[in-house]
Amino acid sequence: MARVNVELKAFDRDPDATAARCLALGAVDAGILSQRDTYFRARRWRLKLRVEEGALGGEVIAYRRDDVREPVESGYVVAAVAAPEELAEALDAALGAVVVVSKRRHLFLWEGVRIHLDDVEGLGNFVEFEAVLPDAGDLATANAKLARLRRELGVSDDALVSVGYADLLMDGPQALLRAASEAMRHAYAPYSQFKVGAAVRAASGAVYAGANVENVAYPQGQCAEASALGAMVAAGESAITAVAVVAERLEHCPPCGGCRQRLSEFGGIDTPVYLGRPGSPPQTVTLGDLLPGSFGREALEE
Ligand code: THU
Repeated sequence: MARVNVELKAFDRDPDATAARCLALGAVDAGILSQRDTYFRARRWRLKLRVEEGALGGEVIAYRRDDVREPVESGYVVAAVAAPEELAEALDAALGAVVVVSKRRHLFLWEGVRIHLDDVEGLGNFVEFEAVLPDAGDLATANAKLARLRRELGVSDDALVSVGYADLLMDGPQALLRAASEAMRHAYAPYSQFKVGAAVRAASGAVYAGANVENVAYPQGQCAEASALGAMVAAGESAITAVAVVAERLEHCPPCGGCRQRLSEFGGIDTPVYLGRPGSPPQTVTLGDLLPGSFGREALEE
């Protein structure tokens, strides 16, 4: 029998503070779970296989979810699985695995509502409310409980997330920010100590990343964007559809003037540029915003 719950998901900038607020509300700390969900291609509902660290078996979960930011009702069916590895192999062969979501979940229970403080690999921290019906009462009661939790835990409108972790992981901005962030870890910036990573998505869909490379002869240093573009050109591509820039010491690192020109060579005025960090909603601007009235190829054709 399909069960129904009402749920809400939001970015969480301060999970320790959220945990403290849960306890202050009287929520019961139900401990920490390490979960690994493999999503498979499915035609109607979503289909995932969940394996919990330390557990012998697993469970397969089929569920329906509408991508909205407001609390949303969703139906789901859970089936226990005795041989999760074999089932994963079978489902992968038959349907294809799409993405794996690994997370550390701190579970709190409050008046029939499950509160999840999730630390999701590659995405960051989230808070999630799941009011399971009828444990949390009827629909109106469950919604009232979620509204109270939002207030008490300080979940603001701009933190609400409309899609699932699997979608976030596959979604363009986050994937690009992750690639930029990975490259940033290898930045060579001994002189400025200012590590930057950039990633561009090329027309083929492939992502190319680069980091800044400094030099003792300072003007010889190269920005992260230039490195990413170099990687793209070396791979045989010459058009970009999106850009991400990540800096270790700056929440939103605007590309320098020279890099605005470099990026404009390969992108259009509407090409999105995501500034931020993986796991948080980025600040999104376009190349046209960054370099209005730019000197383009058409100038040479006059
Ligand atoms: N940097 C970049 O890599 N990209 C930018 O758009 C801004 C600046 C690097 C260059 C230098 O290695 C360091 O940041 C400090 O300027």
